[in-house]
Amino acid sequence: MSTVVLDKVTKVYPGGYLAVDRLSLRAEDGEFLVLLGPSGCGKSTLLRMIAGLEEVTDGDLWLDGQLANHLAPRDRDVAMVFQNGALYPHRTVRGNMAFPLEIAKADPALVRERVTELSKALHIDETLDRRPGTLSGGQRQRVAMGRAIVRQPKIFLMDEPLSNLDAGMRTELRMEISSLVRSLGVTTVYVTHDQVEALTLADRIAIMNRGVLQDVGTPGQIYNDPATAFVAAFLSSQQLNLLPATVRTPQNQYVLLDFGPHQLVMPWSDPRAYAVSQHTGGQIIVGIRPDGLAPVQESYEGPSFFGRVRALEYHGHEWLAYVECGVPAVAVPEPPDPRRNTGGRGGEGGGLRGKVRRMFASAPAEHAQQEQVGHNLRDGHHRRADLIVRLGVRPAWRTGDAAKIGVDVTRLMLFKPDGSRIDPPRR
Ligand SMILES: Nc1ncnc2c1ncn2[C@@H]1O[C@H](COP(=O)(O)OP(=O)(O)O)[C@@H](O)[C@H]1O
Ligand SMILES: [Mg+2]
Repeated sequence: MSTVVLDKVTKVYPGGYLAVDRLSLRAEDGEFLVLLGPSGCGKSTLLRMIAGLEEVTDGDLWLDGQLANHLAPRDRDVAMVFQNGALYPHRTVRGNMAFPLEIAKADPALVRERVTELSKALHIDETLDRRPGTLSGGQRQRVAMGRAIVRQPKIFLMDEPLSNLDAGMRTELRMEISSLVRSLGVTTVYVTHDQVEALTLADRIAIMNRGVLQDVGTPGQIYNDPATAFVAAFLSSQQLNLLPATVRTPQNQYVLLDFGPHQLVMPWSDPRAYAVSQHTGGQIIVGIRPDGLAPVQESYEGPSFFGRVRALEYHGHEWLAYVECGVPAVAVPEPPDPRRNTGGRGGEGGGLRGKVRRMFASAPAEHAQQEQVGHNLRDGHHRRADLIVRLGVRPAWRTGDAAKIGVDVTRLMLFKPDGSRIDPPRR
């Protein structure tokens, strides 16, 4: 059994910076758990606490059923790979990979066998007699991984091991990490800010923001059934459409989502209708991914929006349309950052803020500052958002066209103004 259990683990850096806030999480024996979140959200801090490289300020860390808060790193049976897996430059690949076993005074025949075997699995068996300086970035990361795992640790920790590689190498190594780690059955905690990496690699994903755990689940669960608007937005490869709606229940016949110029009907037969109806008269936030929308004919009578195509964008495997629909823009709701004024570094330039800024790249600066949906809704400002629609490989529209957009109502995600879900996610 090699489990990792975090029980309300907190990290406050000297100077008072709250990097991880009462985070509880469990990696099962043999599980591949991915920690995902924007840069600066505390992923590395958490991983380093598991490795024993950072002290746990508060809460409990259990490794393999043993309280490990004060266990020395070498007594944890944990191996870690970093973004730049530093190698010994004067040792060969074989020498680098054998090093942890030599230190442990393992039998030389066994060392040789183990290194050879692992180098084959990692596709670096041809490079065993070379020095790190002669290897490509991808090969060096393979060696670093081999050296970490050669001792067969109980727990394998990886901190963005692919982020310095180019796209092709990243994809290749991603698949190999997955099959290697699974064939070894080592409990693995893998840190990344890349949602594709998380979705493709993980048994389960734990997603963090501002030091706080937002959601945990299988890739399918957190992609299709995210706990918060932040999670939904972070996992969307294309920008998530977020629209404010007023909930109405005219004559109790059905639930109406009123977007101003547009309305969508949610029949009582929809499993979410009752939970939404609890917000009658109030405003909610509706999220829909661009692939939950599609061009339809003018005569279409199903649920739809309408607007004018402002721009088309070519993405190779698909086109996206930006359609002016006269709906106000809503930012991804987030709780206020408790760390913002603590004098710590970071926080400001983080990934989510970057993402929010990109979402509102065309908005006036004063509006780009407004990240709270409550705020947006309260002051009722009039900035308009484009609805982003996925068009597939052949665009049905041209710029300037009048557009009718069919909506897959089953794919609407329904959030309270604070970003939490109206209908509880199924876990
Ligand atoms: N030694 C440190 N002292 C003070 N603050 C730190 C220290 N290390 C990291 N931080 C801050 O803690 C936050 C989380 O950092 P980190 O765990 O590295 O985030 P991530 O790995 O998710 O990008 C960041 O704002 C970072 O600037
Ligand atoms: Mg990091």
